[in-house]
Amino acid sequence: SMRNEISHLISTIEDPATKKAFDTEMQSFFYLFTRYLSERAKSVDLDWDRIKSPAADQIVPYDQLSSGPKKENLNKLAVLKVNGGLGTSMGMTGAKSALEVKNDMTFLDLTVRQIEHLNTTHRVDVPLILMTSFNTHEDTLRIIKKYANQQLRITTFNQSRYPRIYKETLLPCPKRADDDKKHWYPPGHGDLYNALLHSGVLDQLISEGKEYLFVSNSDNLGAVVDEKILQHMIDTQAEFLMEVTDKTKADVKGGTLIDYDGQIRLLEIAQVPSEHVEDFKSVRKFKIFNTNNLWVNLKALKRIMETEQMELEIIINPKVNEDGQAVIQLETAAGAAIKHFNNAHGINVPRSRFLPVKSCSDLLLIKSDIYSLEHGQLLLNPARMFESTPVIKLGDHFKKIQQFQKRFKKIPQIVELDHLTVTGDVWFGKNVVLRGTVIVVANEGQRIEIPDGCILENRLLSGNLSL
Ligand code: UTP
Repeated sequence: SMRNEISHLISTIEDPATKKAFDTEMQSFFYLFTRYLSERAKSVDLDWDRIKSPAADQIVPYDQLSSGPKKENLNKLAVLKVNGGLGTSMGMTGAKSALEVKNDMTFLDLTVRQIEHLNTTHRVDVPLILMTSFNTHEDTLRIIKKYANQQLRITTFNQSRYPRIYKETLLPCPKRADDDKKHWYPPGHGDLYNALLHSGVLDQLISEGKEYLFVSNSDNLGAVVDEKILQHMIDTQAEFLMEVTDKTKADVKGGTLIDYDGQIRLLEIAQVPSEHVEDFKSVRKFKIFNTNNLWVNLKALKRIMETEQMELEIIINPKVNEDGQAVIQLETAAGAAIKHFNNAHGINVPRSRFLPVKSCSDLLLIKSDIYSLEHGQLLLNPARMFESTPVIKLGDHFKKIQQFQKRFKKIPQIVELDHLTVTGDVWFGKNVVLRGTVIVVANEGQRIEIPDGCILENRLLSGNLSL
């Protein structure tokens, strides 16, 4: 059984301290696994008819937050980046946050700039905390090493490492605690709460007098500390805030806040019964989605971890392993914690607070002249005439980061671009300018090279062109 297999895994460790930490981790995993089994047996699906849109007071518009925040609040704040995920969908084998984004700086470097700027401007000492996983720990340490002698305090801690499970047998893939990496996974950013507690970081923060934690994804450069939101959290005694933003057709998959029997909850696409997925994606019924910018009251978190279990909805992530076998990963999302906290609610923030890089198309936008950098923050180029950013759709040839880097000799100038679609084997030279709507289609077996200095304005290029 799973229980025996786990005991066996634990028995493969000699060193007592390592054994103890691993044991704790496996207990948490086993708890999640047993919850999974019992939910599966009961087939407890959400009752779709009980799902309501959140009430008006459950989502506060950012504009309604009062101004004049007190700067002393910042002394009680710590900033945490969830940084355990790989950029697998972009073909990366390391931490996405180790990717160079702009001016030779990585996501992590830019985050450090943002917080250093906050600290020097307000003469405060907000620490940066990075949650890494066994997949991203080394990359992260390599990048932050250069900040060791700086003022900013950076703390890292590892999230959990859980065993993948064979779908057929429901037994763990690894045979030993030190078995190959491919048999393990980081169980989603919802693991944050367990990892904060078990690493001792939660207690450490509380003992330093920190009361609030601002959490965000490490690839979201829009997630800068916002003092108005912090002040609002204090004024309303909200133990948890989730920043949400208006959904567009491009982000139909993001989790949303719902009212379920009067309780505010996060609803993720993975929890939606297949017959309601279209409903879930509709921009009309669910107007907002979770940016994963979360504000957590640390004492409340400690109370919840100690008095009740921080149960979060299980997200079943099916995968096929390297040997072609079907496996599952049991994961959780950090935002799902909202239901456990008092006075928790959403803040509807401007889109500029959510600028993630999910694909190489997003990366092109962020690297381009649409944005400039100021203290690690992205600023929209004032030369841009419209408030919206261009819609960029790079095809499969640009899916992997290595391909993306090879295919652009230099990032084109796109400040006057509305829409770009690129399909097939296309290569961009230096100093290319794109304006209006540009569509480039290289058909099967064809190759299009956009020469250095080329200006394309409202153009459709297709076939085997030489310009
Ligand atoms: P996700 O993997 O949830 O979303 O990571 P994503 O970056 O959009 O990736 P895809 O394209 O949907 O797969 C969101 C944030 O959560 C962190 C990641 O590092 C990222 O900053 N994360 C994810 C963890 O810290 N631990 C995990 O186990 C998973």
